[in-house]
Amino acid sequence: MRFYLIGAGVIAKSHADAIRKLPNCDEIELKVTDLNSQALSGFVELYPEATSYTDAKTMLAEEAKAEDIVVICTPPFTHYELSKMALESGRNVLCEKPLVMNRQEADELLEIARGKKRLLGCCSDRFIGLPKTEEIKKLIQSNALGEVYKVTYVYRGQRSRPGVEYQPESRWFLNRSKSGGGIVMDWGPYDFAILNDVFKPSAIEVSSAWVSKPETQADPVDTVYDVEGHVGAMMKYHLDGKTIWVHYERAHCTHGKPYHLVEIEGTKGAVEWSPYFESDKVVYTSDKDGEVVTEEREFVNESNISFMDHPIHYFYSKVKGELSPALTNEQAHFNFSCLQALYDCADTGTVQKVKHVPFESEYVNS
Ligand SMILES: NC(=O)c1ccc[n+]([C@@H]2O[C@H](COP(=O)([O-])OP(=O)(O)OC[C@H]3O[C@@H](n4cnc5c(N)ncnc54)[C@H](O)[C@@H]3O)[C@@H](O)[C@H]2O)c1
Repeated sequence: MRFYLIGAGVIAKSHADAIRKLPNCDEIELKVTDLNSQALSGFVELYPEATSYTDAKTMLAEEAKAEDIVVICTPPFTHYELSKMALESGRNVLCEKPLVMNRQEADELLEIARGKKRLLGCCSDRFIGLPKTEEIKKLIQSNALGEVYKVTYVYRGQRSRPGVEYQPESRWFLNRSKSGGGIVMDWGPYDFAILNDVFKPSAIEVSSAWVSKPETQADPVDTVYDVEGHVGAMMKYHLDGKTIWVHYERAHCTHGKPYHLVEIEGTKGAVEWSPYFESDKVVYTSDKDGEVVTEEREFVNESNISFMDHPIHYFYSKVKGELSPALTNEQAHFNFSCLQALYDCADTGTVQKVKHVPFESEYVNS
């Protein structure tokens, strides 16, 4: 198996750690390139097993093998061109989130992947498959919640902007022409990956949405800073004749109260959990004899494979033809289309609908 990393910055190192945990990692060839020679040499010092190249074209010039995996670890504005080049070289591509900058790029990449019969994956599957969220899926399937009618998916942070409070050296996060957007492009890919994995909707509708850019005295003035920090939407999830309302909100900069609440409410019970790192608790609330009953259980991830390892491990399994939760091709395209629909609804004020069909994700602007 051969892995080709394009970009040798922060996330590339996390992927290299994940590759070291793969079975038979001694037989894996690791190759890396970065336009920045310092980033490249720093990477090779930490991962001496990697062979370095000055550019992606040279690295991908050798003949492709069906199991080759190219991992795109660069800022979003480069994802489309680099993924296209890698797919056209005949390789599978695992791209960092967000998959691309806009829907047209997503459409084109999916087309190329299909044409080349290769997998196009997105790293937004990082938090999928954690034991606590698998438990949520079981609760829904067992009908313990009754008929699910509402989801609250709210994460509000006051000061966690990438490019400012987090990873301040990577200013590209703040520039829409490089990042594709703010909090929607940064955390939205994970949020939709989880929502779409739990509910497997046949379509989603963004009924209303807004975006805002709260200001602080730490706002950089020496660089382009034009991305949103706070977003909200009301959405309808359509599944098998049922509709679930989803109240979505995300902030990495707000002057309001910081809190998170992820909760699913049904006619027989409700469940609350944190799909990310805050807690492994699943809190199930129901009714017994007219009284509120609350049960709390912990679902710790005992595996030595952490959520940061998931994208590489899931994609590797899928390329090998094994059953895997990896987000690839049509699903990756559908999930990205949901982000775009949220922006489009906020921009135009009109309802945006995204349909998910097995081999096609159709976008309808109504
Ligand atoms: N930093 C994180 O915690 C984190 C977590 C999850 C996902 N991501 C995602 O990973 C991607 C990269 O983020 P990062 O934090 O690693 O960025 P970074 O700024 O640390 O590194 C990006 C690297 O890509 C290189 N690069 C840019 N264009 C290139 C090109 N055309 N060819 C080769 N190299 C090129 C840059 O020189 C730089 O070294 C983004 O899509 C981001 O959303 C980052």
